[in-house]
Amino acid sequence: MAAQMIVLVFCVAAVAALPADTVISKLNDGPRYQYVSSGEGPKLVDTWLTSSSMARTARYAPDTENVYHLFTRQNPTISQPMLLGVPSLIAANFDPSRSTVVLIHGWSSSATSDFVVNLVPRILAAADVNVIAVDWSAGAYEPNYYSVVANNVPLSGSSIGSFIFWLNLSTGASIATYHVIGFETGAHIAGLVGRSLGGLIPHITALEPPRPGFNLNSNAFLSTDGIFTEAMHTNAGVTGLVQPVADVDFYPNGGTTMAGCRWWDWECSRDRAYQYLGESILTGGFTGVLCESLLEATSGSCESEETLNMGGLTAKFGSSGIYYLTTNEQSPFSTG
Ligand SMILES: *[C@@H]1O[C@H](CO)[C@@H](O)[C@H](O)[C@H]1NC(C)=O
Repeated sequence: MAAQMIVLVFCVAAVAALPADTVISKLNDGPRYQYVSSGEGPKLVDTWLTSSSMARTARYAPDTENVYHLFTRQNPTISQPMLLGVPSLIAANFDPSRSTVVLIHGWSSSATSDFVVNLVPRILAAADVNVIAVDWSAGAYEPNYYSVVANNVPLSGSSIGSFIFWLNLSTGASIATYHVIGFETGAHIAGLVGRSLGGLIPHITALEPPRPGFNLNSNAFLSTDGIFTEAMHTNAGVTGLVQPVADVDFYPNGGTTMAGCRWWDWECSRDRAYQYLGESILTGGFTGVLCESLLEATSGSCESEETLNMGGLTAKFGSSGIYYLTTNEQSPFSTG
């Protein structure tokens, strides 16, 4: 006991002895403090890496700390948690012959977020699948955004990829049966999961991929991360990326301020992404019109005859392009 006390006091003293929190590097050339959407709403974040945050993130160990919560029609409300590399925890209800939908939450969030709570019952109502809600909250609550983007996002992405690969080795569940859905920072993680598995995941959906730290970042979502990739932009240019990143990119209501949300309420527009997806899974709709350019999509002036439905659980193999649609202000959001 006494020895532990001495060690603890020593550590505190060592930190206190640092002259200042040294800036080690910068995420990009933009301003140091930028707005990023999180599970607790938009936050003004530090995009510079400091010595104190580097020490904290070095402790994030996704291989042991990420938890994989399985939900199925046999257990729609109480999860069966799994851990990478622990055979005794392979969930009894995991059926390798079913398709698997993986949900990845965003920054400052967890597997109990509204994104997961909204989608799990809708997915299970529509399809008899395994739903795995990844909990990477051990890395998601890091307050220094630089550390999240540069360290925890890529670490989590490759660790989730390892989990899917390990589950294949342990149960025979084929990677060709997966649909990975990521929201907010989790959208970029979803891409990295697919990339770590050689781009062989058939279906990846990026819901409102964030912009700060991901412009020109090699860890940002890429259309090649899966066989069919789809992105939904609902707060583009504010907290979200503006440019298309997937095979198919939807810009509902022009992509920035969603119908029924006030222009300053980023959280409202951002959260529409999983609300639209949840509704599309149950009742379809959300018919998008093909645009000739991003400008056409953001200004809502697309006039093509070609259409494609946004969302759903079925991959639209072979489709590509930028699409625009309008929505209702409240649920049901689809106008047809
Ligand atoms: C996974 O397991 C099955 C056997 O059930 C196998 O056919 C498949 O090739 C494995 N690998 C991947 C990458 O899915």
